[in-house]
Amino acid sequence: MADLIIRSAEIIDGTGKPAFAADVAIDGERVTAIGDLAGLSAREQIDAEGLTLAPGFIDAHTHDDRAILEGAPRMLCKLSQGITTVVVGNCGISLAPVAFDRRPPAPLDLLGDERWWTFDSFAAYAERLAATPPAVNAYALIGHMPLRYEAMRGDTARAATPAEIAHMKARLDRALEQGASGFSTGLWYVPSKEAGTDEVIELARGLSKHGAIYTTHLRDEGDAVEAAVEEALLIGRDAPAPVVISHHKCTAPENFGKSRTTLAMIDAAAARNPVGLDAYPYSASSTTLRPDLVRPNIRACIAWSVPYPEFVGRDLADIAREWNLPLAEAAQRLLPAGAVYFSMDEGEVQRILSHRLTMIGSDGLPHDERPHPRLWGAFPRVLGHYVREVGLFDLPTAVHKMTGLTAATFGIADRGVLREGAYADLALFDARRIADRADYDEPTRLSAGIIATWVNGRLAYREDRGVTGYCAGRLIRRSRLC
Ligand code: ZN
Ligand code: CU
Repeated sequence: MADLIIRSAEIIDGTGKPAFAADVAIDGERVTAIGDLAGLSAREQIDAEGLTLAPGFIDAHTHDDRAILEGAPRMLCKLSQGITTVVVGNCGISLAPVAFDRRPPAPLDLLGDERWWTFDSFAAYAERLAATPPAVNAYALIGHMPLRYEAMRGDTARAATPAEIAHMKARLDRALEQGASGFSTGLWYVPSKEAGTDEVIELARGLSKHGAIYTTHLRDEGDAVEAAVEEALLIGRDAPAPVVISHHKCTAPENFGKSRTTLAMIDAAAARNPVGLDAYPYSASSTTLRPDLVRPNIRACIAWSVPYPEFVGRDLADIAREWNLPLAEAAQRLLPAGAVYFSMDEGEVQRILSHRLTMIGSDGLPHDERPHPRLWGAFPRVLGHYVREVGLFDLPTAVHKMTGLTAATFGIADRGVLREGAYADLALFDARRIADRADYDEPTRLSAGIIATWVNGRLAYREDRGVTGYCAGRLIRRSRLC
């Protein structure tokens, strides 16, 4: 007698192999049987004829450090996409281990003001997750920026001294002992851009003893993207540590086409050291508003602004015209603020998504007033738009990029594959109907076609009822065995 049997589903198991029809039994938090289970009964049964059952999706790139602390309804944006695990602490930005008594500097404020910056150790953050479990599983990275602010006492517009680097390294080491799984940088951002490659290599040298991973928002995603990829690969090789290049892209028209080179560099490096990358399925990006980087040939739409909330959703160029100011000055006046930038080429997006090592990561910004639609739609957009409509790759390949590949890259054991003994993180969806509905005009519209999502064997979401309220997620950590 199983707890649950999902009958006659098309199984896509996450390994990339073709779909097959089978029944799946779940007991407690694990999948206990897959096959023809006609002889087995269960407390609850679901007829999934015509539907697809896959491992719950792993969002390889999120900024959900705070959102996972805010309860199940907050995670509707993830559960409604079939996401059951999120990687937090990306781009050098993590909620631990540093506390602030005033609004933290950008881009740390993407996660909220000082009310959220209370975790001065990773242990404190992990304790909070244990005390009030999240609705999805979380895999945590430690960001370079919190380490830098803490070690340099706010005086960060310079290279760190050897003593400061040693201090950061000790803090990182502690956090990895306390349940974090890796280290992330955002070398494009202030203050991390002041850190030379040497600083990052020295910190990354602390990873191998924990079997931990290195992820990076590259120092440059435009004119110098090749050099930035080279730097990331060098850091991984020297540490040594597996490397993940975050939200890979080549921005601005003069750089379109460079992904041919960067992907070839990644392929060559991957032959020697584990390398991965993630991408989101859109040709616009989103982050803080940077006055030094706004330019007339890239449209920027305001996602949030503390002093001017009334301008949210408007184009920076319009606002600048209205104020009779140059773009950079208008941007300066809107700070602190965030924006959506229409800066990429669709052909590049498709080439990067198609690469064999590319995982799907939303890079969603859950606290933006008017978020980039990737927050609500990234995963269904890949399965609907790119698989069914564009035919970029087949469904098992798409699912692999959201599950098995991601679990293997990050070292997540017993998840990301649908097999007997694995955790029952599951996404049940209708492959004919799955689609993203969020767009730039209505960025928080719910996706269609995810019928149900289970986290650790507990039903977390149903399309016809919304979130169930169960918070069955937990902090998970990198396994050396993967
Ligand atoms: Zn980033
Ligand atoms: Cu990011």
